[in-house]
Amino acid sequence: MGIRVLVLGSGAREHAIAWKLSQSPLLENLYCAPGNPGTSDLATNISLAHTNPTDVSVWCKSNNIDLVIVGPEDSLANGIADALETANIRCFGPNKAAAALESSKIFAKEFMRRHSIPTADFRIFDNPTEAKQYLSSAQHPTVIKADGLAAGKGVIIANNDAEAVHAIDQLMVERKFGDSGARVLIEEHLYGQELSAISIVSGQNFQLLPCARDFKRAKEQDQGPNTGGMGSYAPPRILTSDLSDQITEYIIQPTLMGLEAENLHYVGFLYAGLMITKSGPKVVEFNCRLGDPEAQAIMPLLDGDLLNALDLASRNQFTRPVLSNRNSSSVCIVITSQGYPGEYKKGMVISGLEKAAETGHIFHAGTETTNNLLTTNGGRVLSVVGVDSTLSTARQKAYTSAANINFDGAYYRKDIAAYDPTHLEDLD
Ligand code: AMP
Ligand code: GLY
Repeated sequence: MGIRVLVLGSGAREHAIAWKLSQSPLLENLYCAPGNPGTSDLATNISLAHTNPTDVSVWCKSNNIDLVIVGPEDSLANGIADALETANIRCFGPNKAAAALESSKIFAKEFMRRHSIPTADFRIFDNPTEAKQYLSSAQHPTVIKADGLAAGKGVIIANNDAEAVHAIDQLMVERKFGDSGARVLIEEHLYGQELSAISIVSGQNFQLLPCARDFKRAKEQDQGPNTGGMGSYAPPRILTSDLSDQITEYIIQPTLMGLEAENLHYVGFLYAGLMITKSGPKVVEFNCRLGDPEAQAIMPLLDGDLLNALDLASRNQFTRPVLSNRNSSSVCIVITSQGYPGEYKKGMVISGLEKAAETGHIFHAGTETTNNLLTTNGGRVLSVVGVDSTLSTARQKAYTSAANINFDGAYYRKDIAAYDPTHLEDLD
C-alpha cells in the first residue's frame, strides 16, 4: 500500500511540489487543498479551508491521509501540525511553537542572538514613542519590521528620520497590519546579495536543497514595488562550495542545534533568507516553508524521490540525504496580470500553454477553469521554468516558453537571472 498525501496551498509552489511528488512510486493518492487547475492534472483538488487546522485534520481522518505537506505559512502559524499530531496524522511542516521562527520576527531575532547565528543588529520596541526616540541615535538607512506575519509587506527600509517615523506610525499606531505591528524591530541595514537557502529538516538531520535567487521587485533593474516574487534562478552565481559550507556551518547547523536546545522539534522545510555580506552570510529572515518562486526553480533540479524524503523526515527517519542535486541550472519567470501588485483584471483567457510546455515546465498559480476555458484569476498567474546544463540556455528556454503564453495584460520581467541585484553600501 502506498502513501496517501495531501498538499496544502494553491500557488505555483504547491503545483511544483505536487509535480515532483507525483513522480514517486511510493504514492498511492495525491490530494491538494485547494490546489489549482495545474494540480488538478496530477491530483484531486479538494475544496477545504486549508488554513483551518480542525477542518484539515477532520478531512484527513475521514480520507485516511498518511502525510500532509504544508505549502503556505498561515496554515503553520495557525497550528496545523499540532492538530494533525493530535489526530495521529504525519505532517511535513513544523508545529506552531517552532513556526514562530517565521510568524514572529522578534522571536527569530532573539533566537539568533541566543545561539550566535549571524544576523543584522536590532532593537525591539513595543512603544512608538520609544521607537522614535531611538531613531536619533540610529544610522540610516534603518530597516523597520512588524513582528508578525504581514504577507511580506511589513518591512520598510527608511532612508531618513521622516521615513522611519512614518513607518513606525503606520505599523504601530495606525496598525496597517493589525496586531502584527504591536511590536516592531529596528534593524541595521545589511549590504550584499540575497540568497535563499532552503533545507529539508527532520530534527538534527537535514539536506540543503539547491540554493536560489529571488527577484522581488515588479520592474526590470529591480525597480518598482515589492511583489510575492517575479522570478528566480538556481543555483546562484555567487554560490561557491566554500559559501555553501559556510551556510551549513554558521547558519543551518547552529539553528537546528538551537531549536533542539529549546525543545522545539522541527520537521519541515526551513528557509534561510540570507544576505551574503563582506563578512559572510547573515540571516535576513527565516521562513518555515519553501519559497515561492524559489520552489519552482528548485523542484526540477532534484534527482530522487521527494516523497520518500519527506515521508522519512516526518517519521524522524531522515538520517541521510536521499535526494541529489542535478548538475544543471534553472530559471523561473513569473507571468503576472498587468497592474500586479496593485489592481489588475481577472477572467482573461489564457492560450499557448501547450507550445510553452515544449521548452519549459509550467506551474499554475492565479488560474481558473471556466466553461472549459483557462482564465486568469490572480496577480501571479503562471510560472514557467527552463532547465538546462548552463544558466544561459536555461534562461533562453524559460523566455521562449514565456513568449508563447498569451492573455490580455500578460506581463513579465525580461531580466530575470540576467544579473544579480546587489544592495550596495553608500560609499560617501
Ligand atoms: P523580510 O520579510 O524580513 O525578508 O524582508 C523583506 C526584504 O527586505 C528582504 O528580502 C530584504 O530585501 C529586505 N531586508 C530585510 N531586512 C533587511 C536588512 N536588515 N538589511 C537590508 N535589507 C533587508
Ligand atoms: N520568495 C520569498 C518567499 O517565498 O517568502
